[in-house]
Amino acid sequence: MNTPPLEVVILAAGQGTRMRSKLPKVLHPILGRPMLGYALRSAQALGAGNIVVVTGHGAEQVEHFLEHKGVNCVRQEQRLGTGHAFLTAAPALRGGPILLLYGDTPLIRLETLRAMLEHHTRTGAGLTILTGELEDATGYGRIARGEDGELLEIVEEKAATRQQKNLREFNSGVYLMDSRAPHLAAHIGKDNAAGEYYLTDLLALYRAEGARVEAFKIADSSELMGANDRLQLHDAARVLQKRINEGHMRAGVTLLDSSSTFIEDTVQIGPDTTLGVGVHLLGAARLGEGVQVWPYSILDSSEVGDHTQIGPYTLVKDCVLEGGCVIHAHSVLSGAQVSRGADVGPFARLRPGAVLEQDVHVGNFVEVKNTRLGAGTKAGHLAYLGDAEFGREVNVGAGTIIANYNGLEKNTTRVGDGVFIGSNSTLIAPVTLGRGAMVAAGSTLSHDVLEGDLGVARARQENKAGFSKRYWKKAGAKLKLEVLRAWLEETQAGS
Ligand code: UD1
Ligand code: CA
Repeated sequence: MNTPPLEVVILAAGQGTRMRSKLPKVLHPILGRPMLGYALRSAQALGAGNIVVVTGHGAEQVEHFLEHKGVNCVRQEQRLGTGHAFLTAAPALRGGPILLLYGDTPLIRLETLRAMLEHHTRTGAGLTILTGELEDATGYGRIARGEDGELLEIVEEKAATRQQKNLREFNSGVYLMDSRAPHLAAHIGKDNAAGEYYLTDLLALYRAEGARVEAFKIADSSELMGANDRLQLHDAARVLQKRINEGHMRAGVTLLDSSSTFIEDTVQIGPDTTLGVGVHLLGAARLGEGVQVWPYSILDSSEVGDHTQIGPYTLVKDCVLEGGCVIHAHSVLSGAQVSRGADVGPFARLRPGAVLEQDVHVGNFVEVKNTRLGAGTKAGHLAYLGDAEFGREVNVGAGTIIANYNGLEKNTTRVGDGVFIGSNSTLIAPVTLGRGAMVAAGSTLSHDVLEGDLGVARARQENKAGFSKRYWKKAGAKLKLEVLRAWLEETQAGS
C-alpha cells in the first residue's frame, strides 16, 4: 500500500502584538524572506502534498503573500487556542501524515525535520513531539517524563507546579501526527487555566487510543527560537546570518567580517571568493568562481587578474557578475549583468537591465538603467544612461544625461561604435549617433548625428572685450574684493 504524502499545517493566525506593527508578525522579514516563508520552504522541501496555512490576524496580507504558492489558506476567525487552530485546518486535510509548523519559528533546520520524520516512521508512533532543552524554559509547556524516560504529559506554564517549572525539557509545539489527529482533536476541550483549546491535549487522546507517543529532542534548541518582538527578530536574523555565513566559509569562501556580511539564502557563491566588510548579497545574485570581494583600500593596490572584486558597503541584488569584474565600494547593483574585466563605481548605480560587456568602465555617480554598454565603453563620471544601446568603445563624457522620458513614454537612444560624447551633453531620446560620431561638449541634442559627423548644439561663444574691467571700475567704492581692487590699480598705473 502506498503511504499518502505528508501534509503540513502552518499556524499563522497570531496577532504579534509585541511587534507593534501594522504588518502581521509572520510577514516580518528575516534576511529578505518573510518569516512565514521559512516554514513554507521547509514544507515544500519535505515534499508536502498539501500545505494548509491557518490565517487570522492580518489574514488578507498573509493570504496575499501566499498567493500562487500552491497553499490552501483557512481562516481562523476567532483565536481560541492551538487546538482550535488545528481543527480549523482539519477540513482541508486529506488523510496523510501531518506535520504542524508555525509561521513565527523560522530557524528550524530542514535536517531536524527530516530526522524527526525518520524517527516518527521508525518508531511507528501515532504522535511525535519535537522538544528542546533550556536552562530556564519559562513560558513553554514542560515535558514531564516517567522514571524510565517515557513521556507522561505536557504541562503548560499556567498549570505547572514549582517543581515542574524546573523541568528543562520543553514542548516546541511542532508535531508529527498520523491521520487520526483531526478526529482526535475534535475531542479537545477548554477545561484548563487559560480556557483555551490546547492542542497538547492530543497527547492524552493518542494515549487513550493505545497509540505510541514519542518525544524527539532537538540537538540545538536555538532552532526553536520564535520571533515575537523586534529584539527577537534581530536575534533570529543573527542566528540565520551566522548559519548561512558559516555554510559559505565551509564551502571555501573567505569572509573578512562575518558580522557585517549579509547573504540571503538564495545566493550562490563559488569557492575561493573573498567578501570584504559590509557586503550584502541578496536575491538571485550569483558570483562566479574565484571572485574576490575586498575592501576598496586594498583593492587599489591589488591585481585584478582572474578574480572579481567587490568593495565594502556594496549592495548586489539579482545580478550576474562574471569572474574578473570589479565592483568598487558603495555601489548599488540590482538586476544587472557585469562581464569579465568591467569595473563599476565607487558610488555607481546599476539598475535592472543594465548590461556591461567586457572591459566597460562605469565610474562614480553614474546611473545605468535598461541599457547595454558595448565592450570597452567608458562612462567615468556623473551620468544618467537610460533605455539606450551603446556600441563598443564609446566615450561618455562627464555629466552626460539621456533624457529618455518625455512625460508620456520612454524612448530609445542608439549610440554607435567609437562615438565620442563631450562633457555635459544632453541626448533627447529618441536619438541616434552614427559610428565614430562626435558630440561637442555642452550640447543638447534632439536630432541624430550621422556616422563620422560632429554634432554641436549650443550657442556660439562670443567674447566682449574689456567688458568685465569696465564693470568693476564702475562699481568704484562699492567694490569689496581686495584682489580686484589691486588688479584695477595695477593696470591703471600701467596704462
Ligand atoms: C504552545 C504550546 C506549548 C509550547 C509552545 C511553544 C499549547 C497549548 N501550548 O503554547 O506547550 O511550549 O506553544 O511555542 O499548544 N495560534 C493560532 N491560533 C490560535 C492560537 C495560537 O494560530 O488560536 C498560533 C500562534 O500565532 C502561535 C502559535 O500558534 O504562532 C502558538 O500559540 P501560543 O498561543 O503562543 O501558544 P503558547 O501558549 O506559546
Ligand atoms: Ca508562544
